[in-house]
Amino acid sequence: MKTIHTLKTCSEVEQSLWSTRENGKSIGFVPTMGALHGGHISLVERAASENDVVVVSIFVNPTQFNNPNDLVSYPRTPEKDLELLEKTGVDYVFMPSETEIYPQPDTRTFNFGQLDKVMEGAHRPGHFNGVAQVVSRLFDIVKPNRAYFGQKDYQQLVIIRQLVRMLGLSIDIIACPIVREADGLAMSSRNLLLSPECRASAPLIHRTLVEACNQIEQMNVKDMIGWVEARVNQDKNLRVEYFEISNAETLEPVSSWTDAENIIGCIAVWAGSVRLIDNIFLKHSTKG
Ligand code: PAJ
Repeated sequence: MKTIHTLKTCSEVEQSLWSTRENGKSIGFVPTMGALHGGHISLVERAASENDVVVVSIFVNPTQFNNPNDLVSYPRTPEKDLELLEKTGVDYVFMPSETEIYPQPDTRTFNFGQLDKVMEGAHRPGHFNGVAQVVSRLFDIVKPNRAYFGQKDYQQLVIIRQLVRMLGLSIDIIACPIVREADGLAMSSRNLLLSPECRASAPLIHRTLVEACNQIEQMNVKDMIGWVEARVNQDKNLRVEYFEISNAETLEPVSSWTDAENIIGCIAVWAGSVRLIDNIFLKHSTKG
């Protein structure tokens, strides 16, 4: 088992990683907001298998929370997080304070064009600007060779790729598959907040997406949207906020299965007062 070093300041990160960089070793980076689960751990393991040194950050970034109650209730489990990380190949855990990340208010605005006008971007105004602020700041501090993101937050992944292009950074963005509970529910820090009733209902979200995927020969795009919404909404504990079927590169909605090579279905559902997201590739050019 490796010894994990916990770092609190930017200059500690700088000092710790200086010789790694000097020696031409690679740095893999996994940004997180903590309350770690198997999804996060899969990213860390992947980073450890592809890099000499792995850095995980744990920072609940206030600028990406459009809803103040969500920020207050966001789960924080730092001791448990460190325990979990001890069993992985992580070298450094960066747990900065808010002033370390934002010595002054971050007033930058990023223009992602259409990418942040749909889905999460449309329902959570300012969310992706906050994500871009914190991720660009963390990239600047850690200066990784590769950074690992989950497909669970598919729109975030597409936007981070665009961010790296916009800023001209030479960081490889590595997409990692969604890790699920045994009953299919996508792992999420927010699952900790579900009531037992809502937890029991939540697997219907993934089940419905899989059933939808199996029916693309029989259903057109419009009918599938209605079908998915109705099926999930049948459960009294679940309320669909949106289900969009989109071009997986541009995130523009498609109206027919021939509109794009890669098509993704993305859903956001309220389970009681907890908002869950999930997605599935409905058409994938490399699927064979
Ligand atoms: P957080 O929600 O903690 O997620 C950190 C990373 O873990 C993200 O890349 C996310 O997509 C990935 N992840 C979460 N659940 C997953 C699952 N079930 N399977 C695979 N990967 C999963 O996303 C954020 O934090 C923040 O927005 C952040 C990028 C850290 C910026 O603050």
